[in-house]
Amino acid sequence: MSIRGRRLKKRARRSELNEDWSEAAKQYRGALTADPGDATSWYRLGRVLAKQKAWASSAFALQSAIALRGGSASSYFHLGWSLQRAGAVEEARRAYQKSESQHSIRPTVKGEPGRLLSYQERLDLAVMPKASYAYVLFRGASLAKRLGIPRITAVELGVAGGNGLLAMERHAATTEKMTGIGIDVFGFDTGKGLVAPKDARDLPYRFAEGTFAMDVEALTSRLKRAELVLGDAVETFREFMTTDPAPLGAVSFDMDLYAPTQGVLQSMNDHADEARFLPRVPVYFDDVVGNREQDYNVYTGELLAIEEFNQENPNTKLVEDRHFKTLPLNFDWHHSTYTMHRFGHPQYDTYIRKARPDSLALR
Ligand SMILES: C[S@@+](CC[C@H](N)C(=O)[O-])C[C@H]1O[C@@H](n2cnc3c(N)ncnc32)[C@H](O)[C@@H]1O
Repeated sequence: MSIRGRRLKKRARRSELNEDWSEAAKQYRGALTADPGDATSWYRLGRVLAKQKAWASSAFALQSAIALRGGSASSYFHLGWSLQRAGAVEEARRAYQKSESQHSIRPTVKGEPGRLLSYQERLDLAVMPKASYAYVLFRGASLAKRLGIPRITAVELGVAGGNGLLAMERHAATTEKMTGIGIDVFGFDTGKGLVAPKDARDLPYRFAEGTFAMDVEALTSRLKRAELVLGDAVETFREFMTTDPAPLGAVSFDMDLYAPTQGVLQSMNDHADEARFLPRVPVYFDDVVGNREQDYNVYTGELLAIEEFNQENPNTKLVEDRHFKTLPLNFDWHHSTYTMHRFGHPQYDTYIRKARPDSLALR
């Protein structure tokens, strides 16, 4: 490093300590004119520009630092932060993902040590595998907490090899730690893969008998807490609901076909025992958003089952989760996430906000 560069860097550091961000940026720029390959100056410049909310320039400086010396969890985190605020949300997400994969250094979230992003931010940015499962679990457990319900049931309907169920187990453990709500996890599957589609409603152009079979022994040996329920879920789920489980608080439908989806939804209809549910149950449907070849539509598959469910049940409705409309990002699972509103539930109307009479008072 040149003598001039070192001198300017020292000045920049002093300005930083005095919180004179524009002077610090000027000195770092000078230092970089003298020593353009100095990664530390690029990094500090990136941080200083972020203080001035010059997000795009900050992201550029941080990217330069990472290009020169590689990125740590913290540098990727700050890059993500600047990119997100510069409006480059997809790039921000990639930076956050890199930050997450570097084993983080600073605990920020109670119950989930060692993370730079909050759990809610990681969820919204989908910086985790199977974020859709984490989302329904976290939402269900958070609502249970507000309502004073200590334990919920989470189910995956359609397990196949078990990758989804294993992810659900992992997310359930994190959600339990963060919310203090106990979660029982169950996976329902025939164990033998898909049954033969009956008619066009089961999308035979897409789903074939016997696909997605399970190695029951291999999966059972990997499961830590989830229980497998084997057989036709239309029967086994109905039976399960009579065994006094904790209220259903998170559901993933992934049985592909219309018939079993419709059959299981019937066990959740207006006549079901409300004590077996949260008043609003987050429900993920895996086969409602897809590519042109999949051609999902409301006259077949899961979407038809949802349509019929809503037509048949005046007091229980499945509707898209509108929270996602508030986010700058758009993932397909956002549009696959529904809420089952159980208007007849005794706790449906329970007030869960913290607003007081003087909230929103005239200022
Ligand atoms: C696409 S796979 C599930 C993939 C899994 N959710 C994952 O994330 O890895 C669909 C599964 O639904 C199951 N399935 C279909 N109809 C069923 C029924 N009537 N009862 C139980 N399971 C069923 C099949 O056995 C198959 O394993």
